[in-house]
Amino acid sequence: MGWRLNCLGREADTGKEGRALQTTSELEALRRSVAKLREGGMSIGLVPTMGALHEGHLTLVRRAREACDYVVASIFVNPAQFGPNEDLDAYPRQLEEDAALLEGEGCALLWAPEVATMYPPGFATNISVSGVSEGFCGADRPGHFDGVATVVCKLFNQVQPDMAFFGEKDFQQLAVIRTMARDLDLTAPRAHQIIGVPTVREADGLAMSSRNRYLSSEARAAAACLPRAMKAAITAIEAGTDPAMALTELRETLASAGFERVDYAQLADAVNLVPISHLTGSPSRLLVAARIEGTRLIDNMPVG
Ligand code: PAF
Repeated sequence: MGWRLNCLGREADTGKEGRALQTTSELEALRRSVAKLREGGMSIGLVPTMGALHEGHLTLVRRAREACDYVVASIFVNPAQFGPNEDLDAYPRQLEEDAALLEGEGCALLWAPEVATMYPPGFATNISVSGVSEGFCGADRPGHFDGVATVVCKLFNQVQPDMAFFGEKDFQQLAVIRTMARDLDLTAPRAHQIIGVPTVREADGLAMSSRNRYLSSEARAAAACLPRAMKAAITAIEAGTDPAMALTELRETLASAGFERVDYAQLADAVNLVPISHLTGSPSRLLVAARIEGTRLIDNMPVG
């Protein structure tokens, strides 16, 4: 099996200058096309996604286009990173719409494998990155980061990119992937070629996320309180307020705005994500996960 017709129904011709996107779900075809893109020493930037693309993803593609000759995006809703009570079935799937967006951004190649291609019968390997995976979202979502690390390692091996681009919105995921790449000697991309791209926000400050679409208009309006309350806490901490007090106030503000639960609101070392109770002089991060109308929103910002 070779290339499929692309989603717009044209035979594809890859290129950096806005030519048509190619889409494949076949591993051998992916390898052939990646080899073709590489001819003449061209570089490849990988943008791994689960689809339902928004401006945050498209910013990753733009960043990858600036840095590399060709961009390969992947869309794969990875069952291994969803817990039994999570939204795997409900997760939005819109391949044609996503492909059109990627084509508009000059992406050369879309890798959209089936579950059976990524996890064929007998698949038995799990990558578990201890330490950095364990707190924060890892504590609430057992196995989630194993699923992320395993699929991202496969994507790196399949595409062999020079650089890979991930949003800082999923800050713990980025730390897990950097640690895995370093520990497993994934030399292409090397750990320092995993690029974290700053979070893209809506006009009211809410971090863009495929999950924002689950919110009613009331909850969506209330959700904007999350980045505001985080900024207020950071301003207070930077001005010398005890972080514990500032974070208690942040929790209270979120509860008053209608968030039913705060899973965590914590300062941490920005590299290894070890929780800290005071600023240390090293780069620090405030990480928050909170639920509104049953939807779990996460955000993070630099501190200090
Ligand atoms: O951030 C995501 O969309 C996913 O966790 C990723 C990195 C594509 C792995 O499935």
